[in-house]
Amino acid sequence: MQLSFVAPSAVNSGVWVVGAVAGPALLPAAERADKASGGAISRALAVNRFTGKPGQVLEMLAPAGIKASRLIVVGLGKPEDFDANGAEATTATAVGRLSGTTETEIAFEIDAPKTGKARGAKLAAHLALGAKLKTYAFNQYRTKDLAEHESKLKKVVIFTANPVAAKKAWRPCEAVADSVFLARDLVNEPPNVLSPVEFARRAKGLSKLGLKVEVLSEDQMKKLGMGALLGVGQGSERDSQLVVLQWQGAKKKSASPVAFVGKGVCFDSGGLSLKPAASMMGMKGDMGGAAAVIGTMRTLAVRKARVNAVGVIGLVENMPDGKAQRPDDVVKSMSGQTIEVLNTDAEGRLVLADALWYAQTRFKPKFVIDLATLTGAILIALGVEYAGLFSNDDKLSERLIEAGKEVGEPVWRLPLGKAYDKLLRSKIADMKNIGGPNAGSITAAQFLKRFVEKTPWVHLDIAGVAWQDNEQKPLIPSWGTGWGVRLLDRLVADHYEG
Ligand code: BES
Ligand code: MN
Ligand code: ZN
Repeated sequence: MQLSFVAPSAVNSGVWVVGAVAGPALLPAAERADKASGGAISRALAVNRFTGKPGQVLEMLAPAGIKASRLIVVGLGKPEDFDANGAEATTATAVGRLSGTTETEIAFEIDAPKTGKARGAKLAAHLALGAKLKTYAFNQYRTKDLAEHESKLKKVVIFTANPVAAKKAWRPCEAVADSVFLARDLVNEPPNVLSPVEFARRAKGLSKLGLKVEVLSEDQMKKLGMGALLGVGQGSERDSQLVVLQWQGAKKKSASPVAFVGKGVCFDSGGLSLKPAASMMGMKGDMGGAAAVIGTMRTLAVRKARVNAVGVIGLVENMPDGKAQRPDDVVKSMSGQTIEVLNTDAEGRLVLADALWYAQTRFKPKFVIDLATLTGAILIALGVEYAGLFSNDDKLSERLIEAGKEVGEPVWRLPLGKAYDKLLRSKIADMKNIGGPNAGSITAAQFLKRFVEKTPWVHLDIAGVAWQDNEQKPLIPSWGTGWGVRLLDRLVADHYEG
């Protein structure tokens, strides 16, 4: 797909998209389209329930008087509410409308509403971002009926008064979009293909972007004492891996890095505490946290972010075989603390325990943020709209909450506390890996907290947002969402560069 920013001119072929705010009130380009088409929009408005709400669409085929094959009016909502998220939703909505058509070109002429928050080059870049994110498709494994699933769209044009400024604003957005696609690809890949070793191989491929990528083997992890992570992988035919990515972009080479840690369970069968069939489906996505970390590190490298950053990813496959970890086993983590594994399906926290400890002790980071599809309970609490945030640091939490709003990946803070910590007491070891029947997401976070020492830390439970079933969010056309890449990139861009 070819994307361009150009000064407004006549649309001589393909789709012409214009905007209307709530009312509906046509914006200038829409007014012009209405005139040129001899009032096609006005006539359509008279017989449609179009009020200019966000996501609403008015579509006219080949109106007489204009050369475009299709004229689309998109609702932008209240002018004062129109922001970068609104811009992205606008173009994504229009692109989504074209699935099932053979249109190959689309041109957006979206005027900035006077009181809106998105304008100029920023508006143009976010219009482009929405369109691009919506064109994603994962058709790797189809050998038939490709035409049904493939978009025909070849050309996307964004009209803007200052194309040079728009192109500049687009560069970091493009880095993010391509990295979101990488994260989505990884989540969508089937688990027979994406083993821990294959995941690590793909991570290695990012070294050509200037990232330093190390892969630790099981032997190396054993030497480091990572008994918690290794216990999870020991029932799998496939080797566990720890991937360490480093980006050195800060002016001061020795500046302490920001650190991201990802849960990379390439498939979660539950282990001997086997999941029932219905719950096991989709557990190829249990590496969504790892995918977000990879995507974030890729973004930082491509846009040459002025920050030092590290990504640590624990890659395992949680399987039941004769060598598998048993419920009742006691393992020793790298931190020295022992864990009684009472449920082998509470494996993510075991992987993170060692990955978190490794990230902190090796890199002494400014902060550490872990991302994990950690608990089904977070879906009960927050559904698919928010990720759960747990933290020992108010400032870092606030910054993430703010960044989440900006990029449309919202997070909601939930509590930690001593009272919950009691639920992790073990009869024979330092702790057990499950709490009681209640507050499952909190006890999981409380468990992780035991592997954090004197470092500002956030845990993001992304089990509700890393993939989606039917209820497609406007910018996400696939099962894997790539959630977290945009959030972390924005956090870094807003606070940790310079
Ligand atoms: N990967 C799952 C969590 C999950 C569940 C993610 C549903 C996405 C959708 C995790 O490893 C798990 O199995 N958690 C258990 C913990 C329990 C055994 C304490 C859970 O949530 O049931
Ligand atoms: Mn599990
Ligand atoms: Zn899991």
